[in-house]
Amino acid sequence: MISEAELMALSFPDAPKMATSVPGPRVSALMEESAKYEAFTRGGGSFPVILSEGKGSTAKDPDGNLYIDMAAGVAVNAVGRGHPKVLEAIQRQCSQIMHTTDITNPRRIALAKRVSEVMPEGLRGDCHTSFFQAGSDAVETAIKFSRKITGRTQIYAFQGAYHGVWCGTTALTTGYNYRHGWGPLIAGVQHLPYAYCYRCPFNMTYPNCDVQCGKYVDYVLNTPYTAADDVAAVIIESQQGEGGYVSPPPEFFQMVKAACEKNGALYVADEVQCGAGRTGKMWCIEHYGVKPDLLTWGKGMGGDVAMAGISYRAEFEAKLPEGSQPSTFAGNALSSEVCMTNIDLITDPEMDLLGRCTKLGEEVRGRFTDAMSTVKCIGDVRGRGLMVGVEVVADRKTKEPLAGEKCGEIAFKLLQKGVLMTPCGRYGNVFRFMPPLTVPHEYAMKAIDITLDILKDY
Ligand SMILES: Cc1ncc(COP(=O)(O)O)c(C=O)c1O
Repeated sequence: MISEAELMALSFPDAPKMATSVPGPRVSALMEESAKYEAFTRGGGSFPVILSEGKGSTAKDPDGNLYIDMAAGVAVNAVGRGHPKVLEAIQRQCSQIMHTTDITNPRRIALAKRVSEVMPEGLRGDCHTSFFQAGSDAVETAIKFSRKITGRTQIYAFQGAYHGVWCGTTALTTGYNYRHGWGPLIAGVQHLPYAYCYRCPFNMTYPNCDVQCGKYVDYVLNTPYTAADDVAAVIIESQQGEGGYVSPPPEFFQMVKAACEKNGALYVADEVQCGAGRTGKMWCIEHYGVKPDLLTWGKGMGGDVAMAGISYRAEFEAKLPEGSQPSTFAGNALSSEVCMTNIDLITDPEMDLLGRCTKLGEEVRGRFTDAMSTVKCIGDVRGRGLMVGVEVVADRKTKEPLAGEKCGEIAFKLLQKGVLMTPCGRYGNVFRFMPPLTVPHEYAMKAIDITLDILKDY
């Protein structure tokens, strides 16, 4: 396993270290400039952070404040920022060729083969891949491909889902801000309850519930008169991301898959956020032994460069017309080379980043769970690997979510103390611990200490 000294060398030393109050003068000036010229529809909005330098699991703002990064650009920097092997790959490839348009290039062909080798069972060694820049592109394509492959039209998604906010994906994504006033959204989309055990939509408790939510998927998909006779695909995150780092019990995915098979619908695993090693296996669905028909990926696969894709069973290729889904920047040779480097790093058996991710994740969850005896606002601790969610509540008994302003206050206090952390969840009350898989143990523990020290006052 890679040593802690090697991991520490990938990051800036002595983090966190604050040079000014937050936001400092340079960040304040840039925020004003951003508000004048950038679209405020961008994620992050008015949260006063701007990053100008990054190394491993640390980043600096233009005022010289050094942060420990528990956000990894929303689970993007799986191997950390500016990994030396990634920088080498960029240098190696940029002097050869970078853009080739959607006509292919040798690096992209090599990547398609590599992706096929590391896919979960069901796709491994027997899939084709279509490349894009963003996870949204990949999920948009999942909608289209599923329709074309099956000749059916409806798409089923889940409550709390986030699949992107383009025209098609907005219809799958839940959340007022994303949906309200942007319609009409594409027709034929329905949402089913996700296995969010902490706030069970059936008000039941696992395992006594007998996984009602899984049974309900089967009920809807396979009962006459439920209008589910034309379902092209069920699109599902293998651990919900923006919806609150919700990690269902294992039977849930197996029941969804069985219901899909009975109905004839395709099972699309959206692993844009939970894939690329984040949960301790290359793909989160591998924890469940379910074989997806299509799998969308992005974020951590590209890391410092934009890269996303959809991988699907090879037999579907015959149903997808040649030239029907072009994309100008898809599979850029530079991004392909970087993506391959990321895959090599994530799966390297000697470094064992996946084994370390599992172990460290257990320790992180253990620390937050143990802290529940003294930190009363922690309502639930969940997740797999380094995709850990800590849901905070005003009252542990009623599970009333901690108020939005207070969650914003906590995020700001974390920033002031030098920890980058992005909340998520239906109520914005889930603090997610998603550092690079290369985070040094010392930095992970420091970030937890700081977080708990802040949370204890709520
Ligand atoms: C599960 C999931 N799918 C799709 C997307 C959309 O990806 P992108 O923002 O790269 O378009 C996201 C983004 O957070 C995501 O978490």
